[in-house]
Amino acid sequence: MKRIAVIPGDGTGPEVIQEGLKVLRRASKRYGSKLEFTAFDYGGERYLRDGITLPDGALAELRTFDAIYLGAIGHPKVKPGVLEREILLALRFELDLYVNLRPIKLLPNVRSPLADKGSKDIDFVVVREASEGEYTGVGGFVRKGTADEIALEEIVNTRRGVERIIRYAFEYALKRNKKKRVLLCAKTNVFRFAHDLWLRVFNEVREEYPAIEVEYAHVDAVVMWMVKNPERFDVIVTTNMFGDIITDLGAALQGGIGMAGGANINPNGVCWFEPIGGTAPKYTDKHVINPIAAILGGQMMLQHLGEVDAAAAIERSVIDVCGQLKGTAAGEMGFTTQQVGDMITERVQVA
Ligand code: IPM
Ligand code: MG
Repeated sequence: MKRIAVIPGDGTGPEVIQEGLKVLRRASKRYGSKLEFTAFDYGGERYLRDGITLPDGALAELRTFDAIYLGAIGHPKVKPGVLEREILLALRFELDLYVNLRPIKLLPNVRSPLADKGSKDIDFVVVREASEGEYTGVGGFVRKGTADEIALEEIVNTRRGVERIIRYAFEYALKRNKKKRVLLCAKTNVFRFAHDLWLRVFNEVREEYPAIEVEYAHVDAVVMWMVKNPERFDVIVTTNMFGDIITDLGAALQGGIGMAGGANINPNGVCWFEPIGGTAPKYTDKHVINPIAAILGGQMMLQHLGEVDAAAAIERSVIDVCGQLKGTAAGEMGFTTQQVGDMITERVQVA
């Protein structure tokens, strides 16, 4: 029995998680795995009701689960940053989910946004550092509100933090067993301290992996290559903020944010799986949001839990159903969110 904590969250989060759960239930039934889901109401509505983001004891409780399945968190009535910092980043930091794993894979049957590139060209993984970097909140104001105001926001990198994510990327490239190439994406021409540490550690760790080809590129070149030559990538390891930015571009290469699932991983603890997109308030309750990102997040969760056959069946079903959709963007599928969820669920039975 695997116990899953479900945090549907805000906006379109609950709609897409509902479809994800449908698919997961069917896949686990077919493959004889036992999943038990427990819902938690963390998010904007709860915060507006009782002022609580993560209640006392939430982290301890979440640690007892085998995985976390999360929709999206954010609310138009809550000041930007509160829910993000007190729920999403708190989970990443407190559960030490230092790997943000974001596969960029254009599935067969999905229209490519790039004229001359297809599913064989767009297939790589971004390993984003998620526990430090630009996201720690170290900073502050001096003389706030005056003409002399100073605002600081520091890049915080530790030797340990950089080494463990780089090592993870090399191990992942071996396990993935495709091009066996790891590219470090940073900005050493500007960040002379933090990114110098990244490059030094990268060059040390690579010595332990002679089977892996390595490359370094500045982030501005990486985004250009993502559009021009995506086939050159296999595994990209990068900083927290660069990883945030390049994976939204990556999502666009996959057919849109509605196609991008991801994972927040602590190799020794509970991990969280999600659609990488946000709450999409303008589509909430319109039944037009694409649930596939959430379904693929669920697929990654099954894979992680060792249910590899069920996970593979979900991917096959998603590919088949994509062949029937008019498009993959919200409102352009030619079907409702629920219909797409149903089609994939039925397909899982036979795919
Ligand atoms: C993501 C999101 C988050 C991030 C926000 C909501 C804090 O954009 O998961 O990519 O920046 O990491
Ligand atoms: Mg982001």
